[in-house]
Amino acid sequence: MKKIIVANWKMNPLTEREAVRIARAEDKNNVVIVPPFPFLGAVRGVLKNASLGAQDAFFEEKGAYTGEVSSAMLKKFGVRYAIVGHSERRRLGESDEMIAKKAKAGVDAGLKVILCVGEPMDIRRRGRNAAGAFIRKQLSRVKRSKSLIVAYEPIWAIGTGKNADPEEAAYVADVIRKMLHVPVLYGGSTNSRNAKSFLEKKEITGLLVGGASIDPKEFKKMAVIARDI
Ligand code: PGA
Repeated sequence: MKKIIVANWKMNPLTEREAVRIARAEDKNNVVIVPPFPFLGAVRGVLKNASLGAQDAFFEEKGAYTGEVSSAMLKKFGVRYAIVGHSERRRLGESDEMIAKKAKAGVDAGLKVILCVGEPMDIRRRGRNAAGAFIRKQLSRVKRSKSLIVAYEPIWAIGTGKNADPEEAAYVADVIRKMLHVPVLYGGSTNSRNAKSFLEKKEITGLLVGGASIDPKEFKKMAVIARDI
């Protein structure tokens, strides 16, 4: 599988105009752009090469669920990927069980699902076996699927400037691959300076990029590194 770069814009930028500007600049073949929900339509309108993703997707198809958006809606809207279980959502109360349901609903609706996992610092301090066990537990309810991708994002590495050691990330990616036979992305403080060290690992199929993804110059460099590897 060729290496992919996923731009998780999180709750950025503030305006549609800015979203369109960034999307145009980041519109490359091996890229998935994941804007906030209100900008999905405008971003869809300008992408020629990149795929469109959503930052979450609910497990019910339709009905009385105020504030939620379903995988079926997203699929019909032209979205190809959905992130589920990001640690910033787990922190708001999402359980492994809910996330496994979201992943299944996404796959059933025809989306490619990027399911996020990652250990906190106190687990990482106990070493790679403890981290591996923690991740296996987070994935214990998840069903294997050809449409599933797992993103390994250690919580302590997200938005902190402290990326994981690529060797350790590859170790966890291998644990996940052995368990579910799916491609694994790494995420957590990636940028154009460290992208290659992760992308050159055979266990790592791509990057889930947060902060650097709303800086088109920086993000484009990462997409080029992924393309040329
Ligand atoms: P970061 O975020 O690149 O800003 O660390 C990654 C993510 O949360 O997906």
